[in-house]
Amino acid sequence: MKKTFPKHITGIKDLSSKNIEEIFAETSLQKKALADRNVKEYLKNKTVLNLFFENSTRTRLSFEQAENLTGLKITNFDSSSSSLSKGESVIDTIRNIDAMKFDYIVARHSTPGFMNVLLNYSNARIINGGDGTHEHPTQALLDVYTLKEIFGKISGKRICIVGDICHSRVALSDIIALKKLRAKVTVCGPKVFIPKGIESLGVQVTYDIAEAIENNDALILLRVQLERDAGNSLSSLKEYRKYFGINLKRISANENIAILHPGPFNKNVELDEDILERDNTFIFEQVTNGLAVKLALFKIMSEYKS
Ligand code: CP
Repeated sequence: MKKTFPKHITGIKDLSSKNIEEIFAETSLQKKALADRNVKEYLKNKTVLNLFFENSTRTRLSFEQAENLTGLKITNFDSSSSSLSKGESVIDTIRNIDAMKFDYIVARHSTPGFMNVLLNYSNARIINGGDGTHEHPTQALLDVYTLKEIFGKISGKRICIVGDICHSRVALSDIIALKKLRAKVTVCGPKVFIPKGIESLGVQVTYDIAEAIENNDALILLRVQLERDAGNSLSSLKEYRKYFGINLKRISANENIAILHPGPFNKNVELDEDILERDNTFIFEQVTNGLAVKLALFKIMSEYKS
């Protein structure tokens, strides 16, 4: 049977479990190529626009690093110095961008569903670098790849996503990816951070961090998204740290538990400094894996026409 891969990566929902496994197999090859300093320039004659309307360190820099290594010709869009400031609409901006015939667009925007606007007004291949509180597919791929490296498999592993679920685009993408690979997923946080009806995604809910630590193989900690007014629904960040913050004392009940965080983290809110230095904390390994995932995505997308 002919293998298929989506033209665009607007969300994990676009990918089958087979697609995800294919990305992971290629990610391992790219990680080795990175270690050997032997990444091939397989997109030498193609162009990419990094269209970021929201700030980013990890996603933007790792995309740029991957684009450089694959030989893509890079253009970066800076919304603050664009003609948006003269009143040009986002849609007209995109129609002008489309007229410049980029092969790939990597985009981030604060509006959930922004990728649909891009799909409507652009012919480039789209990769979502995060759209509001909706999806962040490359983050989920690197998170789940990291878990697969740690455990050897995802199926049956007990993974708990902790914190500001309701303002997070990482949470939804992680849940969809983990469920596609048959993990047992729990979400944990204060009631104000757990969306009503989230069980319909096939996840369990706990409001008790001690229970989450005891009953899971890994915790994916999420940032309290202060820029999306998450602080307003909490009594205080100090309270959050007291009841949900991760520190060595709290995880002593399951001291080998793997800790991940997509970054950036609010230090001494979601986690304490002492968590960063332990062997089973993978936050910076996630960033390395993020680069390999992006190399893999570009490689696979370049090989499939549709
Ligand atoms: N994890 C993540 O998306 O980080 P940035 O916002 O720095 O890209």
